[in-house]
Amino acid sequence: DAPEDLQARAPIVTVMGHVDHGKTSLLDYIRKENVIAGESGGITQHIGAYGVTLEDGQKITFLDTPGHEAFTAMRARGAQVTDIAIIVVAADDDIMPQTKEAISHAQAASVPIVFAINKIDRPTANPDKIKEGLAGMNLLVEDWGGKIQSHDISAKTGQGINELLEKVLLEAELLELKANPDRLATGTVVEAFLDKGRGYVSTILVQSGTLEIGDYVLAGTCSGKVKAMQDERGKNIEKAGPATPISILGLDGAPQAGDKFNVLDDEREAKQIAAKR
Ligand code: GTP
Ligand code: NA
Ligand code: MG
Repeated sequence: DAPEDLQARAPIVTVMGHVDHGKTSLLDYIRKENVIAGESGGITQHIGAYGVTLEDGQKITFLDTPGHEAFTAMRARGAQVTDIAIIVVAADDDIMPQTKEAISHAQAASVPIVFAINKIDRPTANPDKIKEGLAGMNLLVEDWGGKIQSHDISAKTGQGINELLEKVLLEAELLELKANPDRLATGTVVEAFLDKGRGYVSTILVQSGTLEIGDYVLAGTCSGKVKAMQDERGKNIEKAGPATPISILGLDGAPQAGDKFNVLDDEREAKQIAAKR
């Protein structure tokens, strides 16, 4: 076979950490959005997927995960599809159970970690205590003579966020992330639900290839022809290349979060495989 035509793609970065340590706030600041304002009880309960273009034109695809202890499976899935994990730790708190869990998921998936030591605007913030705690777990950050990237930030004031993103992009560069956009799309289901007006809506992350309207998609036990695609701001789009999170309409059911999806040559084949699963 001829070698594939691989092209640079955006890094997929999953934000993990203990409940209320500021994951969604960090992404809100980066995206200039206000997602937490709409969350019930201020608790994230699903994986959010966002494509961001930085001021210098570089692109990053972010996955926001819930920190509440009930959502272990989502954190594990988030770690499995990601290239890099940002682990947010509130500097006015401690290294908490879901901080440790997030570290374990990233390590199990062999994903590089960048620590974001958050809430440093708070008078009781003590970032050194957090770094000392990490050192006690054999995780030596750069300030402590180690190799793990870390940056002190405030998701409230924005302090340190540009530098944090520079460190994330540096990690991404080392990974030399590439994908072939000129093939049938494959990727992972982030979440799916039944919308009364629109039918089944599936949020998916294209990881390789390009998904186009009219493609026949197979996702877990579900299949269908892509009728419409939207980016995370609800804008209709015609195609989506590698590392793009999108919502699609047209599947005959709601696939499970974490299901792989792929595009088949024709609808009959997609239906046959889905029926056998
Ligand atoms: P879950 O998704 O539920 O796990 O929470 P989260 O990690 O996404 O935290 P979230 O962004 O919901 O923030 C929790 C609370 O901390 C909110 O009240 C935020 O306004 C506040 N907060 C987040 N970051 C900062 C910060 O840097 N400084 C201060 N002072 N408050 C912050
Ligand atoms: Na929260
Ligand atoms: Mg959140």
